[in-house]
Amino acid sequence: MDFIVKSGHPEKQRSACVVVGISKNRRLSSAAERLDEASDGYISNLLRRGDLDGDVEQTLLLHNVENTLCDRVLLVGCGRDRDLDERQFHKINSAAVKALQSCGATEAVSYLTELNVKGRDSYWKVRQTIETAQSVAYRFSDYKTSNGQPKRPLRKLILTVPGRRDLAMGEQAVSDGIAIANGVELAKNLGNHPANVCTPSYLEQEAIALAKRHRNLTVEVLNEDKMAKLGMGALLSVSRGSNEPAKLIVFQYKGKKKEAPHVLVGKGVTFDTGGISIKPAAAMDEMKYDMCGAASVLGTISAVADMKLPVNLIGIIPAVENMPSGSASKPGDIVTSMSGQTIEILNTDAEGRLILCDALSYAERFEPISVIDIATLTGACLVALGHHISAVISNNSTLTNELMHASKISNDKIWELPMNEDYNEQLNSPFADMANIGGRTAGTITAACFLSRFTKKMRWAHLDIAGTAWVGGHHKGATGRPVPLLTQYIMDRCE
Ligand code: BES
Ligand code: MN
Ligand code: ZN
Repeated sequence: MDFIVKSGHPEKQRSACVVVGISKNRRLSSAAERLDEASDGYISNLLRRGDLDGDVEQTLLLHNVENTLCDRVLLVGCGRDRDLDERQFHKINSAAVKALQSCGATEAVSYLTELNVKGRDSYWKVRQTIETAQSVAYRFSDYKTSNGQPKRPLRKLILTVPGRRDLAMGEQAVSDGIAIANGVELAKNLGNHPANVCTPSYLEQEAIALAKRHRNLTVEVLNEDKMAKLGMGALLSVSRGSNEPAKLIVFQYKGKKKEAPHVLVGKGVTFDTGGISIKPAAAMDEMKYDMCGAASVLGTISAVADMKLPVNLIGIIPAVENMPSGSASKPGDIVTSMSGQTIEILNTDAEGRLILCDALSYAERFEPISVIDIATLTGACLVALGHHISAVISNNSTLTNELMHASKISNDKIWELPMNEDYNEQLNSPFADMANIGGRTAGTITAACFLSRFTKKMRWAHLDIAGTAWVGGHHKGATGRPVPLLTQYIMDRCE
């Protein structure tokens, strides 16, 4: 979808559709007010008749409203003004885009950006509207023989800012919004491809394709031989059971001359059967999403490169497939990680930490300012936080606060879980330096404790996105999270 900003009066917009808000109890927004005046009270008459009350997500489509230059006017219910927060604003914009997708207008001018959202400015409203619109319009139809797209889809959304003085700010919000929305879409696409297509080698090809699109972005891919030479025994143990070769994909984005980089490390298990500790059959198809951490790294790098941010960023993606076979790891096997620490593999389904630990050791060579790993790591995270909030665990409270701040701005939610020596001891093994599981309780925390043993020398944070990276059920699909959070975190580092 294309997005641009404009200022000006609603009755003067020569457009297929003008979108304006109506609050609870038929209160007209100022754009609705202007259209009402132009048309001699046509809109307020309709509202008095009871056609629309202004509840959130209600819509009403009007045609040929007198003394306006547009073909249609879409009234969108906005709920109570005093309840208008990020969540409500998202619902309002979603309802508007859904209605536009089915009304035949391929282009529209939205005045919903004039609504007062608690604590948010015009820049935020414009950017968020773009992220919402592109997300609502998204369809993954690569494998549908008859395509699932709307017949006359919305192609262009024009967003309004109060006056000409605000146009520069609006244009910045549009270009940032588009970069983030495209990063989210890239992450969704990668996540949604089935695992017979999206293999470690597929991720490698996608990484190379992304790097080709940007002048200051390069990618290097290490094969299994190279990884063996580096001593990545933990990572390689996971892919031993698979016919697909493992890949270590390393992006380097250079937006600044001399400065240490930030590093993102994304779990790229393209399918997680559990290995010999095999998973139950129910919903196992969802384990194609076990590379969504990797997808979020690609999405964020794409957004950062599109914005040409003055920052240095490394993206590391350990990509493997976790399969059972005659050559797969067995419970009780002991492997040596790149750090030299030995690991007793008590459960081959706790594979994410095994590939991440070697990728994190590899990150040390970049002497980064910060390292963040992103992983669909534990089912326990779903139990703790459900589908709405990602978990963050870090060895540095400043870094946690920086992520919290980025979370507030991007509206991509995270919540901190604790970590200490009591939990860490749950990983002790009588035979190796550690076990790869920490018992029945606090699974999300003990998984982070495991990773913390490989990040002692760095400012590190871990994001468990097991609950937030995709939705299941009827509307199943990848969400593209936490691309908005990570992109905002990198944007904040450029001040
Ligand atoms: N990829 C899974 C985590 C997961 C499970 C994400 C369900 C989303 C939904 C991970 O590799 C895994 O299997 N973790 C195990 C760890 C356990 C064996 C300690 C889990 O959470 O059950
Ligand atoms: Mn697993
Ligand atoms: Zn997994």
